[in-house]
Amino acid sequence: MRLTLASVVALATLSVSTMAAPTAHHHGNNHQGKGKVFDHILQVWFENQDFDVVNALPTWQKLAKEGILLDNFNAITHPSEPNYVAAAGGSNFGIDNDDYYNIPKNITTVYDLLEKKGLTWKVYQEDIPSVGFTGFKEGQYVRKHNPAVIFDSVAQNPNRVKNIVPGTQLDADIKASKLPNWMFYTPNMLNDAHDTNATYAGNWLDGFYKSTLSQPYLTKNALILITFDENASYPKRNRIWSLLLGDIPEHLKGTTDNTYYSHYSTLHTVEQNWDLGSLGRGDADKNANNVFDFVAKQIGYKNTVVPTQNIPLNNNTITGLLTGKSFNQTHPNGGTPPA
Ligand SMILES: *[C@@H]1O[C@H](CO)[C@@H](O)[C@H](O)[C@H]1NC(C)=O
Ligand SMILES: *[C@@H]1O[C@H](CO)[C@@H](O)[C@H](O)[C@H]1NC(C)=O
Ligand SMILES: *[C@@H]1O[C@H](CO)[C@@H](O)[C@H](O)[C@H]1NC(C)=O
Ligand SMILES: *[C@@H]1O[C@H](CO)[C@@H](O)[C@H](O)[C@H]1NC(C)=O
Ligand SMILES: *[C@@H]1O[C@H](CO)[C@@H](O)[C@H](O)[C@H]1NC(C)=O
Repeated sequence: MRLTLASVVALATLSVSTMAAPTAHHHGNNHQGKGKVFDHILQVWFENQDFDVVNALPTWQKLAKEGILLDNFNAITHPSEPNYVAAAGGSNFGIDNDDYYNIPKNITTVYDLLEKKGLTWKVYQEDIPSVGFTGFKEGQYVRKHNPAVIFDSVAQNPNRVKNIVPGTQLDADIKASKLPNWMFYTPNMLNDAHDTNATYAGNWLDGFYKSTLSQPYLTKNALILITFDENASYPKRNRIWSLLLGDIPEHLKGTTDNTYYSHYSTLHTVEQNWDLGSLGRGDADKNANNVFDFVAKQIGYKNTVVPTQNIPLNNNTITGLLTGKSFNQTHPNGGTPPA
């Protein structure tokens, strides 16, 4: 990414990996919020597929030629919702099911870190019925796959909740040359493979890549991560198929990176890229927060080597602040969940 000849030479002359100064250069453009290696990040999350199933399919293989395949990327836990929560909060906060949760307002998130630095963010949710919708389910949209609305610090803040927008807004933002710095795209329950399978989702992704993910305005200075929330086999390691696309170094296209990563790696890569500081949770855990290797190399960040035999299964129920505290658990006879 953005490896000019000058920065390649600069990197080559700096010896090993302990130096700190960012060496990446920025080209003149009208993007706001310069990061050390990228100015925008977009995550697209699929659902519940095993690494080997996805990796055997031609549509996904074809896309892998355009990016860096991460073949040691791991989800945090099961089922879906705690993984989406972890992606923004650095913890599952004890959530261990897919119920209607409200994470208390006082819990910090990546959105706080971004806004403190004047950076912008949006969560694109395919088929969400309206901007800032807080309901549980509507058509093919589900709250459990929304990494922002579950946090009351977002959902109960009239300005912030506007950052939860329909999926179609992404194309509009690209067309208007107005992309946020941090973006998350959740396809609907069919397109994300939840109610279908990896073949169906791969075909959808092929179309989404052509229509949207390959648009020059988006790929310029942007890192794109295709990943899954969790894999489908609870008794096995929670490894998920993940791919980096966008403005990655040309010579790394079609390669595989076997560094140990988790969803906290994405959070920590973002924190390192913009010097955001830390939430002090999983994002600060050296055994779970490795920064994407090509980014780490450009900024001189040293990752932790996690030997294969020490890689956790990440298939456990993790307890915490919200264990037993979903709307369903506290209102066993039903009723209307908080707006
Ligand atoms: C946040 O508020 C909850 C109660 O709503 C409390 O249990 C928790 O300790 C608070 N956490 C922090 C980090 O302040
Ligand atoms: C997905 O479902 C379709 C239609 O039922 C089937 O043809 C295809 O083989 C399935 N793919 C996978 C990976 O299971
Ligand atoms: C996690 O995997 C281990 C090893 O296969 C298995 O014994 C355990 O039951 C799994 N845990 C859950 C919650 O499925
Ligand atoms: C989940 O990931 C593990 C580790 O890669 C893999 O062994 C397992 O096969 C995956 N689940 C399934 C059903 O393939
Ligand atoms: C949990 O609560 C939501 C929101 O009220 C409701 O739609 C859903 O059916 C409930 N789930 C269960 C398993 O009761």
